[in-house]
Amino acid sequence: MPSPGYTFNGSTVELQGPGLSTATIHTHGATVTAWSDATGTPRLYLSPTAALDGSAPIRGGIPVCFPQFGPGARWPKQHGFARRLPWTVETGAMESGVPRAVLTLEESEQTKEGGVWAHCFLLRLVVEIGAGGQLLVGISVENRNEVGAFDFTLALHSYFNVTDVEKAKIVGLKGLSYRDNADGLKEKTEEDEAVAFAGEVDRCYIGAPNSVLLEGAGVVVEKEGLPELVTWNPYKEKTAALPDMPDGDWQKFVCAEPALVYPAASLEAGASYSASITLRAI
Ligand code: BG6
Repeated sequence: MPSPGYTFNGSTVELQGPGLSTATIHTHGATVTAWSDATGTPRLYLSPTAALDGSAPIRGGIPVCFPQFGPGARWPKQHGFARRLPWTVETGAMESGVPRAVLTLEESEQTKEGGVWAHCFLLRLVVEIGAGGQLLVGISVENRNEVGAFDFTLALHSYFNVTDVEKAKIVGLKGLSYRDNADGLKEKTEEDEAVAFAGEVDRCYIGAPNSVLLEGAGVVVEKEGLPELVTWNPYKEKTAALPDMPDGDWQKFVCAEPALVYPAASLEAGASYSASITLRAI
């Protein structure tokens, strides 16, 4: 077995955890692009045609959506700037036998683009592989304005490998209200025991439980500080329109994205907000 450890080559951080568990984090967007569990099974989907050179957000892994989830309410482009900019590696180390990396992003001319969200802030992303090979991703948002609150929405836009999306299911959302982004953001109620992917699915489940099972992905997603769960698969036609995903790859992933959307969070100057996800293979 390889020894647990941490390496950084200037653009990617590699974590080696217990057993065969590993994680890779690109400094571009602080995007976790790979996580293998303790048996060495890769659990996150990364498009083989994703841009990894910083020219676009990375299609796959766990992009960070901030200061908005969705289209340009605060920043001009979809899902905000956090996934589009290079982050700084603050620390990387073994801590109590666990490999951990910490990446940060602060305000810049780019984050102030458009002038709508021209705030001072610090984002800190902590990625760690736990004793059982589980992946922990924590994010904190600090308002560094001298005066003045800001608001934001946030998502950890996680892509999971599945062998056949039409057999995959997300269990634990029955009875919840959701906004259906594939149907004009209408508010609906989930009637089914499990969410299946027999066509385009693009939903934001309000007040989702803090633990959901992804059948077909072999993963349980746990979340804190992220009340919503977005479920997404673009299916055939919309995948063909994505420049950074092979046409047939809609069959290979589901997105289950812990998010804070309804309502947006508001932070006073000097205040911080923390949230996290834990991904466990089952
Ligand atoms: C999901 C949204 O979170 O992200 C979808 O709900 C969107 O509407 C998808 O299509 C991918 O967005 P992007 O900007 O990465 O293509």
